[in-house]
Amino acid sequence: MKLWGGNYEGEPDREFWEFNRSLPFDRRLVREEIAASRAYVMALARASAISVADASALDAGLAAVLDVASPEALADAQEEDVHSWVEARLTETIGDLAGQAHLGRSRNEQTVTALRLWIRGAIDSLRADTAGLVRALAEKGTSGADAVMPGFTHTRRAEPITLGHFMAAHAWGLVRDHQRLGDARRRVNVLPLGSGALAGTAVPLDRDALARDLGFEAISPSALDAVMDRDFAAEFVFAAAQLQTHLSRMAEDLIWLSSPEFSFFLLPEAFTTGSSLMPQKQNPDALELVRGKAARAQAGVIRLLALMKSLPAGYQKDLQEDKEAVFDVADTVAVSVRVMGGVVAGLDYDGKKMRAAAGQEEMMAAGLAVALARDGLPFRKAHGVVAGLVAEARKTGASLRETARGALAKDHPRLAADVDALFDPERAVRTRSLPGGTGPDAVRASLRQAVERVE
Ligand code: ARG
Repeated sequence: MKLWGGNYEGEPDREFWEFNRSLPFDRRLVREEIAASRAYVMALARASAISVADASALDAGLAAVLDVASPEALADAQEEDVHSWVEARLTETIGDLAGQAHLGRSRNEQTVTALRLWIRGAIDSLRADTAGLVRALAEKGTSGADAVMPGFTHTRRAEPITLGHFMAAHAWGLVRDHQRLGDARRRVNVLPLGSGALAGTAVPLDRDALARDLGFEAISPSALDAVMDRDFAAEFVFAAAQLQTHLSRMAEDLIWLSSPEFSFFLLPEAFTTGSSLMPQKQNPDALELVRGKAARAQAGVIRLLALMKSLPAGYQKDLQEDKEAVFDVADTVAVSVRVMGGVVAGLDYDGKKMRAAAGQEEMMAAGLAVALARDGLPFRKAHGVVAGLVAEARKTGASLRETARGALAKDHPRLAADVDALFDPERAVRTRSLPGGTGPDAVRASLRQAVERVE
């Protein structure tokens, strides 16, 4: 059943018709479409546009359509889009009265109403899964709050940090993603119904009541804007792509730090795969795919922005291209968050290897320079003095610790006596105990806060 054609002489070109159809992908909106239609017929009755008895019959018919809206039925159907499919089934169920569900209503507003409801649900489940991942990171980080490992800049050992500090860094990006999705939700959760094709409708609908019935927090303030706006979708896709980008960075860290060259982390076997040629391999495919799929999520942002950039005011068929971009990014990110949750939950670490790497004396150079500056030597000078000690130790092959002990004995006797403590990585991290620092107590507090933010 086509929803139009009274002014046509023949049938559309067959290949074009397939090109035109959106049912193969917008069938995912069927629940939202039916929920919106049920609320709409009630709003029509409240506005006295149809009788209460007709509204009840329409509502019961739509409930029956929901019952037959199985994935198989939708996959086999030939209608143009999900809106046509629902109307066709409703017509089969209750006859011509079905047409009244569309009194004053356009597919231009239906498609965005359903998409907004769908994205709202996607945001809620993505936020819940992201919160779960933050909790998993906080658990690992709290149990490793004292475990010392090297921190890196430019992939070179920089200063000792704790495993908790590493976990907290990755957790906080996700906390912001969780917030960002929550912010986007407010702009997604706006009712378009009542917009008609572009001008509103002559039916005096109580749009606020309709919004309440569908759980929308606000009504769209311009009918023309409501049918052409897709920035709610772009914003959701950006927030999701940013989340995927954080997952990708986390994946990258776990990949290289679990490589046999480091073996700081041990990946759960269930999230690795073997090689068809090399029998010894357990490859980090789960993490590599999370990283690879970031490209896909990012492409979704461009897809939506490019789609919108030159469209004139009003609905254009171009806008039908919004849904696949939204679905693809939502699906990609949802499964990635869950896979990451599994990896983190099963992640193990080799405390001995981390500690050994963190004990490398040159990583204490910055700490030594700060200690010298606190002993009165201007920091820039202290930096130069320590750099000289590093160069000397490298040249002589002596340990930096002994080189420092000898060189500082005259001008900084207190420091020279304290050199062993200064070269102790456990002590080094403990002294970074200000809020945000890598000290175990600071890290535990930071992780607690991260969990609170997503609760
Ligand atoms: N399938 C269309 C879409 O996804 C629904 C709106 C169609 N409206 C129209 N006037 N052709 O955008």
